[in-house]
Amino acid sequence: PVITYVQADGSTSVVDAPAGTTVMKAAIANDVTGIVAECGGQAMCATCHVYVSTPDSSSLGEISEDENEMLDCTAAPRTEQSRLSCQLVVQERYDGLTVRVPEYQV
Ligand code: FES
Repeated sequence: PVITYVQADGSTSVVDAPAGTTVMKAAIANDVTGIVAECGGQAMCATCHVYVSTPDSSSLGEISEDENEMLDCTAAPRTEQSRLSCQLVVQERYDGLTVRVPEYQV
């Protein structure tokens, strides 16, 4: 599935991510900047925060209690579009996903 990451300055990275990885890991593997992922994907740091532009964030799957709690700790403001990219496991239906990377993660 093809995922587009949009930086705060408007620059974009288009990544073909294999199903089963996470939106966070796909970013790291492809040198997409702005996703820090300090905890390595444990839903414990909130430095992998992204804003889901398309489709809407809820269609990507439920926000777990852990993710919901960590989303209250993001450095950049939480919005309706906020998700932790480490909790988004790539599936075929993610094809065409666009996420915005916040200006800062810490
Ligand atoms: Fe730490 Fe996602 S990598 S919460």
